[in-house]
Amino acid sequence: MCGIVAYLGKKVAQPILIEGLKRLEYRGYDSAGVALLGSGAIRIKKTSGRISALEKVLDEPDAAETFGIGHTRWATHGEPSTVNAHPHLDYTGKFAVVHNGIIENYGTLKTWLRNEGAAFASETDTEVIANLIGYFYTKNDSEEQKKSDGQNKFEWAVQQALRELHGTFGLAIVCSDFPDTIIGAKRGSPLILGVGDNEYILASDAAAIVEHTAQAIYLADSEMVTISPEGFHTKTIDNITISKELKQIEFSLEQIELGDFPHHMLKEIFEQPKALSTCMGGRIDRQNNRIKLGGIDSYLRELTRTKRLILTACGTAFHAGLVGEFLFEQLARIPAETEYASEFRYRNPIIEDGTVVISISQSGETIDTLAAVEEAKERGATVLGIVNVAGSSIARATDAGIYLHAGPEIGVASTKAFTTQVAVLTMLAIELGRRRHIRSDQANKYIDELSQIPDKISTILKQSGYIKQIASANIDQDNWLFLGRGFNYPVALEGALKLKEISYIHAEGLPAAEMKHDPIALIVDGMPVVFIATAGPQYEKIMGNIAEVRARGGKTIVVATEGDENIKSALGRTDHLITIPDAPELLQPMLTVVPLQLLAYHAAVLRGHDVDKPRNLAKSVTVE
Ligand code: AGP
Ligand code: GLU
Repeated sequence: MCGIVAYLGKKVAQPILIEGLKRLEYRGYDSAGVALLGSGAIRIKKTSGRISALEKVLDEPDAAETFGIGHTRWATHGEPSTVNAHPHLDYTGKFAVVHNGIIENYGTLKTWLRNEGAAFASETDTEVIANLIGYFYTKNDSEEQKKSDGQNKFEWAVQQALRELHGTFGLAIVCSDFPDTIIGAKRGSPLILGVGDNEYILASDAAAIVEHTAQAIYLADSEMVTISPEGFHTKTIDNITISKELKQIEFSLEQIELGDFPHHMLKEIFEQPKALSTCMGGRIDRQNNRIKLGGIDSYLRELTRTKRLILTACGTAFHAGLVGEFLFEQLARIPAETEYASEFRYRNPIIEDGTVVISISQSGETIDTLAAVEEAKERGATVLGIVNVAGSSIARATDAGIYLHAGPEIGVASTKAFTTQVAVLTMLAIELGRRRHIRSDQANKYIDELSQIPDKISTILKQSGYIKQIASANIDQDNWLFLGRGFNYPVALEGALKLKEISYIHAEGLPAAEMKHDPIALIVDGMPVVFIATAGPQYEKIMGNIAEVRARGGKTIVVATEGDENIKSALGRTDHLITIPDAPELLQPMLTVVPLQLLAYHAAVLRGHDVDKPRNLAKSVTVE
């Protein structure tokens, strides 16, 4: 997690760094800081809390300071305090470092460095990096440095230090002896260099870059970049020069700005019809009733013959994977299972001939998901990615993939990524289904229905005000249940996740029938129980579960199909009914999730929480 940004150019660096940090704040917001150079020494300002807190302690920008690095933190090692905030200075006072990631062997290195005379001020793992660089720099009279053919001492010391590190890092480093140089390096955490007109912005993601330039290079693992007013060069950490291709950043500033919405989450919920249309647009050929998934074209034959699919992801993306599991089994009759990426990696997974792994991630940077991809590759599986962020680590690590094209998702709570992930999985399942199991006319019918989903979501969004009233009527309740069956069981899990994540209300999601096996004991007068009771084969059973909850005093909030008169008569005066347009059961998750997103959103706002930056969370979890 956390966001790093660095600027080197002709403009005053401080406001550029602050603006960049604000755009990266969704990645972490425990503390923030900057280190500025230009007028000699390194000037550091940092504080616990958000960027707004940092702004309060900053001095007026100094026009001579046209270089600098900045950080917004999601704490892993050490509490979110000012002393633990980045940038961290080394013990010689020459180097300042901002870091995204975790250094696993920091304990051993710290002890060793202490014995060598290095002092530590913070509890962070990051300070070890700064001190290691300082250590090698001070000892740079070694034979190795002498042989290093004119390479500057700064770069050399950074390389020596990085070779000692176990774990992950995205780094920006400055040195007071080289006041016009910034070094960036990465392993496991993202780092992009925006290349502008005589200026450079190095950042954890493109959101901090687009305002300045649309041209960028994406560093790969174990690569580093040295930037100075003369230009930049890229090398591996082992000092092998490499050339990197300039790529076009795909999103615009407008896409990441709030516009008329009070929060990114609400904006992104309302963007779902458009995001889905873009996601499916060039891929569904309505005239010929075909689905074309360009990114995985060359893997279609293999996929058609797949014996087993493993879907792996975390959080909301995991829930999308669960919907995918139902889809692949039902439409294509491919045995499928969904696994938490964090579990998959450490479970000695069985990958046989004919197993294909699909990893799903909005950010493409979730470290657990990335590690699962590496694990599956090592075991010989073909690994496909369903990813939103183009050029992200998972997109690059997988053999092939399908982008979501949902546009940037800024709110920590994932919304449009979920519906587009499900849309991609649905398209793939229909296409494989047509090749393996279902008749063409059935596939055509699903394609037709799928194309109608964006408009149907627009209808649901009109109920936002009404859903706010429901949230308000239940806002004092501290325990909620979310129940669904079949395709809507993962949606129940997702509804609970959303509510917990942003409103801090305890919630549990379950397959509705499981309720009788334990959580029914929790039901007390007025406890909200959200049911997804849409038209489908399990409708009658769910109606039974609703009656069971009502009989015990629970208050039901039911998501049902428009025109369902039966449900109206089954509910009491204090229960709530939300309707969605009719759709085949297997396409319903993209609809039923929308009221649950809105419910969570309104509950969080009513409780006065910062919806886009929920407590303790961050948008992309780049630590294990
Ligand atoms: C969703 O609302 C959460 N913020 C979280 O569960 C998220 O889905 C998870 O961390 C996975 O992220 P990814 O899709 O970027 O891999
Ligand atoms: N491990 C570092 C710290 O705790 C960086 C954490 C991060 O990447 O968010 O400060």
